[in-house]
Amino acid sequence: MTNERFPPGFFDRTDPGVDDAFYRVPRIVTHIDDDAIAAVGALYEELELHGDVLDLMSSWVSHFTSAPRNLTVLGMNAAELARNPQASETVVHDLNAEPRLPFEDGSFDAAVCCVSVDYLVRPIEVFRDVARVVRAGGLFVCTFSNRCFPTKAIRGWLYSSDAEHGGIVAEYFRQAGGWAEPVVQRRTPAGHFGDPLWAVWADRR
Ligand SMILES: C[S@@+](CC[C@H](N)C(=O)[O-])C[C@H]1O[C@@H](n2cnc3c(N)ncnc32)[C@H](O)[C@@H]1O
Repeated sequence: MTNERFPPGFFDRTDPGVDDAFYRVPRIVTHIDDDAIAAVGALYEELELHGDVLDLMSSWVSHFTSAPRNLTVLGMNAAELARNPQASETVVHDLNAEPRLPFEDGSFDAAVCCVSVDYLVRPIEVFRDVARVVRAGGLFVCTFSNRCFPTKAIRGWLYSSDAEHGGIVAEYFRQAGGWAEPVVQRRTPAGHFGDPLWAVWADRR
């Protein structure tokens, strides 16, 4: 979907190949440093994400300080997801091939997406479908830093500054519909030595 805010080419990637090929080999690594991981967990705690929660674009870690009652993790690599100690359900699903989520309406109290939103080529459709599966009043919380797999990140992200990324994700919420006006925050202090962490979240109207 292109429009005035997201012009043609915005969602193109250097590697347009199927994501299944890129993510086939498990990566049992962390993608942000310990302080940034702690900032993700602290935010989830502050926002009280404790019930039925969906971790989108997940891997072997979900960063909750304590696991939600039911955590469904969705990602590309079954072996990574199988090692996630906080998960109660694992789902392999390619959101770029099929943005519609394989869940019933209103299945979750909240959804999260950590350091991965920049890989979505149809984010507005995904955010719209997250609104379908999150119950009224529930939150969708996206966090990101300044690192990525550059061949798989969308061009619009790579050619924007760190400061602009929050605005891009906020616009995904607005254009998707179904969400209240999003909150954009830097969660690691300015001048912090290490990976910075930003968050954008909104509640399901
Ligand atoms: C940088 S890793 C982040 C993993 C995890 N969220 C974390 O915080 O460590 C990117 C993740 O996005 C997932 N991913 C990438 N493209 C995807 C797609 N098209 N559909 C679903 N998940 C995808 C991959 O499975 C991978 O685990």
